[in-house]
Amino acid sequence: MEINPVDLFYKEYGQGTPVIFLHGFPFDHSIWEPLVPLLSKDARMILPDLRGFGRSPVTEDIYSMRLLAEDILHLMDHLKIEKAVLVGHSMGGYVSLAFAHAYPGRLLGLGLVATQAAADGPERRQARYKTAEAVAHKGARVVASSMVSTLTPQKELLQPINELIMSAHPTGIVGALKGMAERHDLTGELANISVPAVVIAGSSDQLVPKERVETLAQMLPKGWLITIPNAGHMLMMEDPQAVVTPLRELIKMAEREK
Ligand code: MLT
Repeated sequence: MEINPVDLFYKEYGQGTPVIFLHGFPFDHSIWEPLVPLLSKDARMILPDLRGFGRSPVTEDIYSMRLLAEDILHLMDHLKIEKAVLVGHSMGGYVSLAFAHAYPGRLLGLGLVATQAAADGPERRQARYKTAEAVAHKGARVVASSMVSTLTPQKELLQPINELIMSAHPTGIVGALKGMAERHDLTGELANISVPAVVIAGSSDQLVPKERVETLAQMLPKGWLITIPNAGHMLMMEDPQAVVTPLRELIKMAEREK
């Protein structure tokens, strides 16, 4: 596989143990901003835009999870960060797991938010290709109209989430859809992840099945599960405090094991 990492746009807050936050699909770094006032005293928070999203370069590739992980490694090298905690939301979680698989020596801990290790089934995969084709012709509104209402039970978040999706570049959306469709099932690799890992899930997440979240937490040797009540898929926007509390614990554990 040919890998050409790109220079990612990122924001940085605070000092201490580096914690890199990877957003889900089709968002950008700004979804994590509600956590900044709560966590930047405890850690060095790095919030990149993944390839194809926000202010990062948009390329025509299929954005395999491994390619997106490679961009993160490139960012860590640029920032001279030897090891970091990765916190990934949904697609960002797929990227974090791909990173853990490829670069275990660069990882201090894992925060897996509303995500899973399993790959797509055939139907989901087909649906992604169909959506990718529609987005290439009609733009981001295809994803916004089908996705927004499934993301959160909190009505006041629907508009900002819709705006965020509508601002995504169609080429980035297509690259990520194809990359997610082709991603590997990493369930069998979880037993090799030796760092502390917290799985954070919303009790009413419509996108990630509960069994998959439970499997993820059970199969990670140092994994534990936190379920946030009355929350959907966008936990960091819905209940930032409930996300920060287990992340703080994760960071402390990662620091002890350094
Ligand atoms: C995400 O939030 O990143 C996506 O919903 C993940 C997915 O479509 O599998």
